[in-house]
Amino acid sequence: MSRAFEHEDADAEQKLARKRRKPQGKRKLADLGSGAETVDPVFAQLEMLGVITEVMAEIKSGKEATVYQARGDQGLIALKIYRDVAARSFKNTGQYGLGLARSSDAVNKAIAARGSRGAAALQDLWVASEYMVLWQLWNAGLPVPEPLIGPEPFDYVQSSPAVLMRFIGDENAPAPRLSEARLSPDEAQSAWRQSLEAMARLHKLGLVHGDYSTYNLLWWEGSVMMIDFPQVSDKTNPNLQSLLRRDAHSLALSFKRHGIREDEESTLREVERLARTLVDRPRLRLP
Ligand SMILES: Nc1ncnc2c1ncn2[C@@H]1O[C@H](COP(=O)(O)OP(=O)(O)OP(=O)(O)O)[C@@H](O)[C@H]1O
Ligand SMILES: [Mg+2]
Repeated sequence: MSRAFEHEDADAEQKLARKRRKPQGKRKLADLGSGAETVDPVFAQLEMLGVITEVMAEIKSGKEATVYQARGDQGLIALKIYRDVAARSFKNTGQYGLGLARSSDAVNKAIAARGSRGAAALQDLWVASEYMVLWQLWNAGLPVPEPLIGPEPFDYVQSSPAVLMRFIGDENAPAPRLSEARLSPDEAQSAWRQSLEAMARLHKLGLVHGDYSTYNLLWWEGSVMMIDFPQVSDKTNPNLQSLLRRDAHSLALSFKRHGIREDEESTLREVERLARTLVDRPRLRLP
């Protein structure tokens, strides 16, 4: 069931979200890492690689990944670390397909066996899948956080369960999700149009987000930023059209609290219309 259905008591949820997201103060790498055995080595590895110098706060810990605010030479970094996948649902092996990272026969067998090797393989696949999408969307000019490893991240992702990207927000706090942002009517209209356009640009690339709602859209300085990509599907997924329809449904439903009155059908039509008419705006690659 999509999270879009879960926000009946918006105010209570907002309070909870604020509490949960409150940065926990600046903490040095060495002070974090208690408990989660998988996290410590990741911080150490990233520090060794010179990618991060300080982990500042834990932003959010979900059932699949924990996102940290970190600092590095490139400024503020969001560090998304996939947890021990033994605790994770295997939803991605069902209707979603396996994201865009195509797995080898050996990986498929390991996943089917669901032993520790399968779990590790699946974890690599999720990181690789999220990175691949992030790079593709960034290069295509979509509103996503800039990926901060690469341009060929694949050696790296094979050896670490983390995705690094530009942190959206400032020193003090992350950008709010659209699910919890308070918007004026004009801002709500703008956020809705931007969310439709981002979905249409994705559709134009032959991709479907697969978990598209205000819960995976950040709001920062008047702009919408799309996040959370491990479950993105492409044309090889036979359920692509129904996933697109479901995303349209979740988006419209989750925007109701901002006063937007659209439904699955009208949202889908508008996304398809935009996908036919929008002009590509790829980002220029620096030499
Ligand atoms: N680049 C970023 N900049 C700032 N905050 C971010 C960034 N990426 C993620 N976050 C924060 O971390 C949260 C979790 O990120 P994301 O949705 O990618 O992970 P998730 O584990 O799939 O979470 P969920 O299960 O809640 O969807 C986001 O809702 C957002 O608040
Ligand atoms: Mg998410």
